[in-house]
Amino acid sequence: MSEREKKRVAVIGATGVVGQTIAQVLAERGFPVGEYVPVATGDRGERTVNGLGRTWTVCAIEEMDFGGVDICFFSAGAAVSREMIPKALDRGCRVVDNTTAYRMDADVPLVVPEINSSEVTPDTWLVSCPNCAAINLVMTLAPILREVSIERVVVTSLQSVSGAGKEAVAELDAQVRSDLSGEEAKARVFAKPIAFNCLPKIGELGDSGDTVEEQKIIEETRKILGKPSLGIVATAVRVPVRVGHALSVNVELSDELSLEDARGLWQESPGIEFDDRLPTPVDVAGRDTVIVGRLRRDVSRPHAISYWAVGDNLRKGAATNSVQIAELWCSL
Ligand SMILES: NC(=O)c1ccc[n+]([C@@H]2O[C@H](COP(=O)([O-])OP(=O)(O)OC[C@H]3O[C@@H](n4cnc5c(N)ncnc54)[C@H](OP(=O)(O)O)[C@@H]3O)[C@@H](O)[C@H]2O)c1
Repeated sequence: MSEREKKRVAVIGATGVVGQTIAQVLAERGFPVGEYVPVATGDRGERTVNGLGRTWTVCAIEEMDFGGVDICFFSAGAAVSREMIPKALDRGCRVVDNTTAYRMDADVPLVVPEINSSEVTPDTWLVSCPNCAAINLVMTLAPILREVSIERVVVTSLQSVSGAGKEAVAELDAQVRSDLSGEEAKARVFAKPIAFNCLPKIGELGDSGDTVEEQKIIEETRKILGKPSLGIVATAVRVPVRVGHALSVNVELSDELSLEDARGLWQESPGIEFDDRLPTPVDVAGRDTVIVGRLRRDVSRPHAISYWAVGDNLRKGAATNSVQIAELWCSL
């Protein structure tokens, strides 16, 4: 790859758990990075981050100049994306946004490359990367949809603390230590202690009684699959796991699909593995595939199946999916 083809790549939120994983995935996949610009808040003094084989000085967001940046990954919360993405686009930068800011905008593609890569064209400048639990779910539903229609989905997502960022991971670790030494486990990031506990509310409650996280899973799944009226109910639970989200899924289908055929559909789909040996979040952490297991028939409803799926929320749920989107631009 010549220097001319190499890209100037920026990551907004480069010191976060997703931002650091983006740098790691860029290096692992051999993305043609000519220059790397890590960006974070400017109020913590001079900082460096390691990535792509060297140490980089972190650029304060206030000093960020998007001129000359080819691709920018936004991973610093929706408010930062809303304020800064228009500026990046004005300077001719292609943007992959990991936040909620533009996901449901009708003119912004919400992309999981294994499913709807055709929505990324040379004329697409902004692409949203979906919610991490929604990515896991659509990865498992899309192969089924190629064979039969889906009438209704009931999903419970069991989500690791890294889904709430670096401070949430530190809070779990601190609470485990406090609890084991008989001290009070103080909660700051979460509403209640997360160590040795689970919290059935992720994000604020909306008018419907669903949380914001549950609404994201529902609405983003419909948008990615192009099924705006898909019947879907979601419950999102925070669990004391560091990395890796799990889903318990029940799907009612329009027609009979044998368990063997369902297994076959997943096995032949890129990015999915079927494993009946009890896949867990710990097994999938650090990997890019979504692993499906515990497949069984739901005899309480006609044509219904239940299964379990796990995926790394920082990799396929965020960083890897984002880098795959950027790779689509490089391949056009
Ligand atoms: N974690 C996941 O599994 C996941 C999955 C999908 C999408 N996302 C989304 O990705 C984004 C980042 O999540 P995360 O889990 O990586 O969070 P995180 O670990 O808390 O990191 C947040 C990053 O954003 C930076 N930041 C925060 N406010 C900023 C500001 N005003 N200006 C510039 N930089 C700012 C932080 O910089 P400092 O170090 O200076 O504070 C840090 O680099 C969020 O929007 C989240 O919803 C996360």
